[in-house]
Amino acid sequence: MPIVTFFPSGKTLEVEEGTLLFDAAKRAGLPVASSCSADNVCGRCNMQVLEGAQNLSFQGTEESRLLRRDKNPLSDRISCMTRVLGHCMVTTRYW
Ligand code: FES
Repeated sequence: MPIVTFFPSGKTLEVEEGTLLFDAAKRAGLPVASSCSADNVCGRCNMQVLEGAQNLSFQGTEESRLLRRDKNPLSDRISCMTRVLGHCMVTTRYW
């Protein structure tokens, strides 16, 4: 099963393939910014991918639109729209 590592805490979590990054972080006990309850609207749950970007689900046009709207790099991922398919390491700008 894929392992998600959260930086800088170093916490790791083994997850089922297809788990949302948002859910993985919550299960690891980390706070995730949100004002839409993971309803794919607010864009506040974005994360930066430090390793394993290729092991995350494809970034669709709606996710890209949210990142552009909020002037975030397209290399960021909206965690409630991104599924874990393999090992990765992520962080946020507030952890
Ligand atoms: S929590 Fe609002 S877009 Fe992810």
